[in-house]
Amino acid sequence: MAVRKKYIAGNWKMNKLTDEAVSLAKEIVEGAQKVTNCKIMIAPPYTALSEVKKIVKGTNVLLGAQNMSNEKSGAHTGEISIDMLKDVGVSAVIIGHSERRIIYGEKDDFINSKILLAIKEKMDVIFCVGETLKEREAGKAFEIVTNQVVNGLKGVTEKDLSFVTIAYEPVWAIGTGKTATDKDADDVHKVIRETLEKLYSKELAQKMIIQYGGSVKPENAGALLSMENIDGALVGGASLKAEQFLAIINSIK
Ligand code: PGA
Repeated sequence: MAVRKKYIAGNWKMNKLTDEAVSLAKEIVEGAQKVTNCKIMIAPPYTALSEVKKIVKGTNVLLGAQNMSNEKSGAHTGEISIDMLKDVGVSAVIIGHSERRIIYGEKDDFINSKILLAIKEKMDVIFCVGETLKEREAGKAFEIVTNQVVNGLKGVTEKDLSFVTIAYEPVWAIGTGKTATDKDADDVHKVIRETLEKLYSKELAQKMIIQYGGSVKPENAGALLSMENIDGALVGGASLKAEQFLAIINSIK
C-alpha cells in the first residue's frame, strides 16, 4: 500500500487582521519548525497574504489562499486571480469549500473550471467535497460526494492529479462542534478512493491525499488521523489558535 504523507491545512476563513495574522503565523512557524512527518499549509485571508508570506518564506509552512477566480484576468470586480495569488507567494488554493458552495452558490462546473485553471497554472489545489445533514439523513452521502468528485475532476488527467488534494468535509460537521465518527469519515474517504480508482487507477487512488475537515480539534485529531484512509485535516476554528493547530499536527503518530 502506498505510504501517504499527512497534510494539515489551516483555513482561517474571514478572520484575523494583518497584525493578528502575522502573530499567528509566527507562532505556527516557530512551533512547527521541527515537524518533518507532515506537510503544513495556512490559508489566511487575502488581505494578510503578503505579510504572512514574509513569515513563512523559507520555512516548512506553505502559504495558501481560500479561493480564487475561475478567470485569468479582466473585468471581474471583487475577484482575485491566480496570478495575483502567485504574485504574493501562494502555492496552494482551497477550491469548492462548502461555504462557497452554499452561501455563494458555487456549483460543480464552476468549481471544476477553477480546478482546471489552477492545474494549468501549476498551483496545488485542496478540492473540498461533502454532504449536508439532509443529504446524509436521506442516505445519500456516498452518492453526493461521489458526484462532487466526478464533476469537480472532469478533464483532470492522471498526470495533473498530483496537484490535487481532496478534503472531505461533511457540511453538518463544519464549525458545529459535531465531528463525523472516525469510522463514518473513513467510510466516505474509502468511497472517494474507490471513485478515484474507477476514474484513474488503483495506483493513483492509493497515492491521493484525502483530508478530513469539520470540527477537527486536538481532542479528536489523533483518532481521525490514524484511520486508514484519512491522510490529513483541513482545520477551520482550531487553526486560529497556534497551540491548537500545533497540537493537531503533533497528534500524528
Ligand atoms: P471547522 O472548519 O474546523 O471550524 O469545522 C473546517 C473547514 O470549514 O474547513
